[in-house]
Amino acid sequence: MSHPSSLHSVALFFRQLILTPREIGAFAPSSKRLGDAMAHWLEGGEHGAVLELGPGTGVITHSLMQAGLASERLIGIEQSREMTSLLRSRFPRSQFIEGDALRVTDTLRRHYKQIPRFSRVFSGLPLLNFPPRVRAELFRQLRDLLEPGGKVIQFSYRLNRGHDYESFQQCGHKFVWLNFPPARVSVYESSPKKGPHQRPDTGRVSRLR
Ligand SMILES: C[S@@+](CC[C@H](N)C(=O)[O-])C[C@H]1O[C@@H](n2cnc3c(N)ncnc32)[C@H](O)[C@@H]1O
Repeated sequence: MSHPSSLHSVALFFRQLILTPREIGAFAPSSKRLGDAMAHWLEGGEHGAVLELGPGTGVITHSLMQAGLASERLIGIEQSREMTSLLRSRFPRSQFIEGDALRVTDTLRRHYKQIPRFSRVFSGLPLLNFPPRVRAELFRQLRDLLEPGGKVIQFSYRLNRGHDYESFQQCGHKFVWLNFPPARVSVYESSPKKGPHQRPDTGRVSRLR
């Protein structure tokens, strides 16, 4: 597994930044410190299926693997074709879909007969570049894709408390000052669903169709 800060990855990141600035939404790839701060919240969810939204060149992906995530448990959704192909060659045992993470349910449905329930969703999406209704809709979808008690881990360059989403509560955060720019990692936990208890999935990830 080569390191995501290789020259090729960095060059690809900046090329994509010029082509799609709104989607990239960052001046530089995340630092390893930020990747590790995100991966800290893998704990307790490492035996489930894990979803990564906007993995880019794989900084957070790499930290997740180092934190003990078995690569077969990871599914990533990335809009950039070139980044997706880089991720596939870098992490061949994980599954990366080239697609729209904002329409996560449809994107997964197109690729899996049975969509797994996820214990963790790690997101590097530049959410603040999207309107509030788009962000709310993303979290509505994530609510249904998570195991009970599952968590969404999102970073942002806005350092204040950030947004609240229906059916989620913020259960943790961390500032990463030594990142450019400094970032805040926010952790959202899905509130228990009312109604009949649903059995969580085993976290097994079937192969892409
Ligand atoms: C701020 S970069 C983060 C990249 C990487 N996770 C990191 O931390 O360095 C945002 C990433 O989200 C991807 N992205 C933006 N909008 C997306 C969408 N709707 N669907 C899938 N990926 C998207 C971009 O292509 C880019 O790779």
